[in-house]
Amino acid sequence: MTTPTGLSPHLTDRLRTWRAAGLGRTTVDLASGQHPVVDVDGDRRLLFSSSNYLGLSHHPDVVAAAVDATRTFGTGAGGSRLTTGSTTLHRRLEEELADWLGYPDCVLFPTGYAANLSALTVLADDTVTVYSDERNHASIIDGCRAAKGNGATVHVYAHRDLPALRRLLGTRTTPHGLIVTDGVFSMDGTVAPVDGLVAVAREHGCPLLVDDAHGIGTLGDGRGSAAPRSPAPDVLVGTLSKALGAEGGFLCADTTTCDLVRNQARPFIYSTASPAPTVAAALAAVRLVRTDPGHVRRLQDNVHRLRRGLGVHNASGTPIVPVPVGDETQAVAVAESLRQEGFHVPAIRYPTVPRGRAILRATVMATHTDAQIDAFTSAAGRLRPAPAGVPAPDRAPTRRAPAH
Ligand SMILES: Cc1ncc(COP(=O)(O)O)c(C=O)c1O
Repeated sequence: MTTPTGLSPHLTDRLRTWRAAGLGRTTVDLASGQHPVVDVDGDRRLLFSSSNYLGLSHHPDVVAAAVDATRTFGTGAGGSRLTTGSTTLHRRLEEELADWLGYPDCVLFPTGYAANLSALTVLADDTVTVYSDERNHASIIDGCRAAKGNGATVHVYAHRDLPALRRLLGTRTTPHGLIVTDGVFSMDGTVAPVDGLVAVAREHGCPLLVDDAHGIGTLGDGRGSAAPRSPAPDVLVGTLSKALGAEGGFLCADTTTCDLVRNQARPFIYSTASPAPTVAAALAAVRLVRTDPGHVRRLQDNVHRLRRGLGVHNASGTPIVPVPVGDETQAVAVAESLRQEGFHVPAIRYPTVPRGRAILRATVMATHTDAQIDAFTSAAGRLRPAPAGVPAPDRAPTRRAPAH
């Protein structure tokens, strides 16, 4: 074994300070799949924090598709999409997603993170001002940071605030603009005002990009918060790793935009393609959602039960329900109390959410039973601190300059 010389003292100090602020993290290693009941450290716990919303990662058709593809194509892709890693399955999945979501073309990426990074770095150069919702996902924020490296200007607007966005658009000094938003906000469970954003984008001649990582497979008929409409967002980003139970990301748009991305997006060009079994699993999952509305319906029933049980009555209908705690150390303590009662729901802290606004991020799956949901909501109701002074995230004022 090698003997590393160790971190230099300033890095050791940084880690110590980070942990002292209640922000330390470690992995929690499951010995089972993303089922309602999971095996963690030999304990059986009820899982209420997975993004496997439809439970499709274990659906027999999805598993069979992955197994068949493994036999045919093997386990690894062996090259990037532009060299040797692309298969007929990749192309079929791109065609299926484009057809389902109502776009002329689609590009797959190894992750949703890579899809957002690609979109922002290709679409935003020094002629573009990007307008980004303050609560956008870290992959959009990192895309904005990288776009600044291209010379793009980035403006952050208040969460879902169309008048604020209009005011910012009115001050634009670059020839072009680009509006970017999550469809379903990953920590808040709130939904972007997609129709309003489409209208504002048209008024100001800017394209609109919606990242519907958490909306696709969960909202409407499964096509998410930006489900086909006319006019539609110009670019739709999604992930295969949440409701679709697989892994990977995608971007739907017109053919020119997709071709530009294929030619210039570094995360697309310089990363090994997703392995065929994963692509086959996603393809099977999309077909299940398209052909059997029961998957989304079961999830929606459970969403309503969870929201009712936690006393969160907004109508967003998303499977993400934040339980506000506030203090980081207290959030970890509540997660630990839940763990001792047999529930797996990690605390979400800075920098994923602003400092002092830690939450437990509860999610529900189509595969949970009523009894499991009721057991969780009753334990969460007992164990969470009184909501004194901690507003629900969708009503909370912004606390600090966003981290874009
Ligand atoms: C809104 C949003 N966009 C993009 C991503 C990234 O997707 P992936 O996990 O496939 O990289 C996530 C993942 O957490 C997300 O929540």
